[in-house]
Amino acid sequence: MSEKICVVGLGYVGLPLSLILGSKFECIGFDVDACRVQNLKNGIDENGEHSSSEIFASNVQFYSALDEVQECSMYIVTVPTPVNSENIPDLSALKEACDGIGKIIKKENIIVFESTVFPGCTEDFCGPLLASQSNLIQSQDFYLGYSPERINPGDKVNSIKSITKVVAGDNAQTLDRIASVYGAVIDAGLHEASSIRIAEAAKLTENIQRDVNIALMNELSSVFHAMGIRTSEVLQAANTKWNFIPFRPGIVGGHCVGVDPYYLIESAKKQEIDTKLVTTARMVNESVVKRIFNYFTENVPQVHGRSLVMGLTFKEDCKDTRNSKALELANKLADITTVHAIEPNLETVEGANFELVESFCHAPYDCIILAVNHRQFANLPGSSLKTMVGNDGYIFDLQDSLKLDPDKSFYL
Ligand SMILES: NC(=O)c1ccc[n+]([C@@H]2O[C@H](COP(=O)([O-])OP(=O)(O)OC[C@H]3O[C@@H](n4cnc5c(N)ncnc54)[C@H](O)[C@@H]3O)[C@@H](O)[C@H]2O)c1
Repeated sequence: MSEKICVVGLGYVGLPLSLILGSKFECIGFDVDACRVQNLKNGIDENGEHSSSEIFASNVQFYSALDEVQECSMYIVTVPTPVNSENIPDLSALKEACDGIGKIIKKENIIVFESTVFPGCTEDFCGPLLASQSNLIQSQDFYLGYSPERINPGDKVNSIKSITKVVAGDNAQTLDRIASVYGAVIDAGLHEASSIRIAEAAKLTENIQRDVNIALMNELSSVFHAMGIRTSEVLQAANTKWNFIPFRPGIVGGHCVGVDPYYLIESAKKQEIDTKLVTTARMVNESVVKRIFNYFTENVPQVHGRSLVMGLTFKEDCKDTRNSKALELANKLADITTVHAIEPNLETVEGANFELVESFCHAPYDCIILAVNHRQFANLPGSSLKTMVGNDGYIFDLQDSLKLDPDKSFYL
């Protein structure tokens, strides 16, 4: 059977997926953001991940009104699953998507979810919403699947096609149909999980593993720093052991590693299990900005009354500032000093209470903070940054990539 596919939600996950599916299947892209859809129709991806030639070559039809989306056999949902201000999973976009899709699905349709969720969400939360809107019976009239996404925005090496895709379905036939769709476009191959819950849990596990390990490195780094020991050199030495896992300390932001653990924490609470390790790891990683800020207030003399933050996005080489810790740090510093920031991937930054500058021409600064190691900063030697802070100035090289003299520098 040749599937007609609708990708619901055309952001960092949905757009690349629709583009590759469009090369092999009849594919529709649907998003509630009419502006985003209009831009895509004009070949513009504001996220900067895809060129207009890729978009135009894809054969994907983009729509922002659900009544234009008709007669698809498979829906793949890639809407956001953030947390609210209390770090509780916010399923509102998922609910809205299910309510909408429920109105148009027909018998034999499959609805696959790619949004990161807690185990059971697809079958116990999404399925019933689809059933009540459609008056169809879950896993009898329509079917469910789950396929976690592992895309890494800004990463041109590990692309959607080259990463093994986990797929799961609510029965063997569903899984076959899902596997034949993804198998046609994913070069790296598929892993067929034996249940939807396992696939949902696998995604959380991958990101929680990262969060916990980075938290461990952050904790070690604060101890080593207090003892005058350089963490990057400790890790270089430790990494010579065959089974050492190379994680580094850092600021953990964004909407995956810094968010997904809360989905597990919430599930654990329902089972009356206290996830001490996962919860503590979150707290440790959330405290890193404060640690950097405190070091700044205790050590950096305010001779020139201003500092420069380099990089504001949540990670290197992307445009995404959601839950960016570099942005949080810059805003926090701007409460106590004048802050300039250079962000080569953005022309404006929402929610910034500091000035965005394009060059280093406002030097000297009291402090330069290399917060995000974008490729545009890769060739900047520490010596040239040093000339921009003068004798009393500090350089915060969070990843210790410049290997600066420890005097008047800070690294995690
Ligand atoms: N970005 C990543 O690196 C990444 C990686 C793996 C998994 N994920 C997960 O994938 C999901 C999507 O993340 P993203 O980064 O692509 O989000 P995003 O914010 O970039 O894109 C989501 C899109 O969905 C649209 N949308 C919201 N509600 C909708 C609705 N009811 N119907 C149709 N469209 C709707 C939004 O307008 C937006 O364009 C999340 O669950 C996220 O955790 C993200």
